[in-house]
Amino acid sequence: MSSKNQKTSIEMQEPKGKLGILLVGLGAVSTTFIAGVEAIKKGIAEPIGSLTQMGTIRLGKRTDNRTPMIKDFVPLATLNDLVFGAWDIFEENAYESALHAGVLERDLVNQLKDELQRVKPMKAVFDQRYVKRLNGAHVKQAANKMELARQLMDDIENFKRVNECARVVMVWCASTEIFLQATEDHQDLKSFEQAMRDNKDSIAPSMIYAYAALKSDVPFANGAPNLTVDIPALAKLANDQGLPVCGKDFKTGQTLMKTIIAPGLKSRMLGLHGWFSTNILGNRDGEVLDDPESFKTKEESKLSVLEYILQPDVYPTLYKDFSHIVRINYYPPRGDNKEGWDNIDIFGWLGYQMQIKIDFLCRDSILAAPIVLDLALFLDLAKRAGMRGIQEWLSFYFKSPMTAPDLYPEHDLFIQLMKLKNTLRHLKGEELITHLGLEYYD
Ligand SMILES: NC(=O)c1ccc[n+]([C@@H]2O[C@H](COP(=O)([O-])OP(=O)(O)OC[C@H]3O[C@@H](n4cnc5c(N)ncnc54)[C@H](O)[C@@H]3O)[C@@H](O)[C@H]2O)c1
Repeated sequence: MSSKNQKTSIEMQEPKGKLGILLVGLGAVSTTFIAGVEAIKKGIAEPIGSLTQMGTIRLGKRTDNRTPMIKDFVPLATLNDLVFGAWDIFEENAYESALHAGVLERDLVNQLKDELQRVKPMKAVFDQRYVKRLNGAHVKQAANKMELARQLMDDIENFKRVNECARVVMVWCASTEIFLQATEDHQDLKSFEQAMRDNKDSIAPSMIYAYAALKSDVPFANGAPNLTVDIPALAKLANDQGLPVCGKDFKTGQTLMKTIIAPGLKSRMLGLHGWFSTNILGNRDGEVLDDPESFKTKEESKLSVLEYILQPDVYPTLYKDFSHIVRINYYPPRGDNKEGWDNIDIFGWLGYQMQIKIDFLCRDSILAAPIVLDLALFLDLAKRAGMRGIQEWLSFYFKSPMTAPDLYPEHDLFIQLMKLKNTLRHLKGEELITHLGLEYYD
């Protein structure tokens, strides 16, 4: 018998027709994502790392034995319904770009050649002042930033028509822009639009994409740490348009490990003197992050995690003034196969010191690709369920989760997962799981 006590599920439209996934940037992450989906569709690979494809969800009591797959529990688009499009500052199609990125083996990429060659990037909105280490010629021209947004809206409309898409979502997988802070131009839509018409520097290219998406009825996810949609003007626009948005910065590699280990240390009341993290990577992302201004955006995103998880204000004896340093070094021989070292100085009973060393030989794009898939499918679900504005339940996927103003972000991966699964239970009118469990002993 079901242990449902919440009778009403939220009304969700069925995912009929094709779902277009528009990717800003057709680099390592995007091509690994597209190639992966095509390989899975052909039955030559498994969707490892994707919660929507491999995850299950417990419903009701532990004794109920109800654990469906997430994809069978909520109405998600299927992989066969996905169509891909992209913008990039380089003309290379997804096949050429995947070979260039060098993440996937040439043999695998060649097996997917036809599908990948079909994805040809549209001209980008780009300004080198925001990504100093890159320069490309496949770029739109216009009199002002509002005009550029209109061109992007035309692209979205064309893409939707040509590919006969019922719905579209957009995911930013382009390079990290320089560090920007919100100004008065970002506070409301009127000022934002005026700043676009005035070509102000406060409007970064990523914001133009986000604006174009929201104006075109398209949910938006931000995979990089740029400000982008995390400003009051665009968060409000998303709300008003009934569109879900989420960001920022895919949580992969070192930060993923950090948000797995730090909650464990804290839960056992073990103290921290310092956490030193360094990385070597040699892909284009690494090259872009070699520029101090792009690195600053990334650094801010990576640094905030420990403060929020460890709560030094609440636990001063354990966490006051711990030292936290993050370095990224561009080292071409490594390509996408990053190496991340962590040295963690902790202390335990009576203040006795201990150390933890992590050496994570990871593959950035292999970790990021399933996140792109999950975000695209969940954003599409959220829209069909009438969820609008910032989607905090998708914090699970981000280093710097967007939250409502004045609300601190939740970084603990396990709390994030519980939040995500409880949101799905809520959508379907299932009992939320608190893990209290006293009823088993009554
Ligand atoms: N791989 C990961 O684990 C991971 C984790 C978190 C965040 N990210 C972020 O995801 C993004 C993509 O990473 P990647 O490894 O694929 O990088 P990449 O350099 O291989 O690809 C980025 C692509 O974006 C293009 N681009 C740059 N500015 C653009 C613009 N304005 N419009 C259209 N295209 C533009 C570049 O030409 C490039 O092809 C980066 O910002 C990275 O910091 C990646």
